[in-house]
Amino acid sequence: MNKEIVLSGIRPTGNLHLGNYFGALSKFVRLQDDYDCRFFIADLHALTTNTDPDALHANVKGILAEYLAAGIDPEKAAIFVQSDVPEISELYLLLNMHVGIGELMRTASFKDKARKCLGIGKDACETEEEIEHQIIGADNNKRVCAGLLTYPTLMAVDILIQKAKYVPVGKDQLQHLELTRRFARRFNSFYGVEEFIEPEDFNFGGKPVKVPGLDGSGKMGKSEGNCIYLIDDPKVIRKKVMRAVTDQGPTEPNSPISEPIANLLGLMELTSSPETVQQFRDAYADCSIRYGDLKKQLAEDIVALTDPIRQRINDILANDEYLRKVLARGAEVAREQASKTLAEVRQIMGIRHF
Ligand code: TRP
Repeated sequence: MNKEIVLSGIRPTGNLHLGNYFGALSKFVRLQDDYDCRFFIADLHALTTNTDPDALHANVKGILAEYLAAGIDPEKAAIFVQSDVPEISELYLLLNMHVGIGELMRTASFKDKARKCLGIGKDACETEEEIEHQIIGADNNKRVCAGLLTYPTLMAVDILIQKAKYVPVGKDQLQHLELTRRFARRFNSFYGVEEFIEPEDFNFGGKPVKVPGLDGSGKMGKSEGNCIYLIDDPKVIRKKVMRAVTDQGPTEPNSPISEPIANLLGLMELTSSPETVQQFRDAYADCSIRYGDLKKQLAEDIVALTDPIRQRINDILANDEYLRKVLARGAEVAREQASKTLAEVRQIMGIRHF
């Protein structure tokens, strides 16, 4: 029986943290038995933010080791590097002919990243028009690279070329997924074909998991500097958790829980046993809680989760032979589908042999 295709990718811009683990990796692992899964490392996407070449190369290897160490089984799921599938680059050129620069410029992620390139802060008061003016660069010599604008086209191609039905992604990627569906529909109706499948998000029918950071507010994120990385040493993890932001502590029974404490309990819900979480909730409610104990427990439970992963990451990083084999096999699977889709699209668009 043909399994439905699931595809997702991660940009190699640094090590993966607990947010990536609970938000993406652990979901990928759950999907690999029931679907035809393809997980890739989006190195071409990483180029849009001008990474240092050696850092890029090292990060690709890092993500690969992290995928494997987190439990993605290369016997079940194809793991590949985006640039190992040259068909993606060609289809990217072809699909761009049907994508409007206006719709790309209106994408939230483009506006965000373009601002960063131009050095415009989040709270700056520039209007949309002023920002557009700066992007055009009439009176500055800053440059927003064209690859950043066409980022959604490349992402759509990753998905459409594999004929993926499901794409497990975080909330921040939903707009890209919506664009992917729109591009697929537009292409199909323009040529009167049913070439591309409109992909859907995959969220297991539940709410998206929130993985809080250690700095008292918001979610864990690389740019927030509030992360625990899978590769972190137990000592580092303990130190980070012990330094996490807390509050004065409850003075009256059954007080509402402040955000920093709710965040620590939220992390605990992901990593500790339900009994442990309940014990600290009860202690909070009757004011007997000691944040030092809470943090110690949380640190140990995080270490218990991440330490085996960390050790596997390090073992895998030392085994180039194995990594090469995994990627060669993954690229083979990915290219089989990609070359088929590309050949069909070339035919449809009139790029034909004599
Ligand atoms: N844009 C995604 C991110 O930054 C990474 C990505 C690239 C991706 N291509 C994809 C995710 C295709 C899912 C499917 O997280």
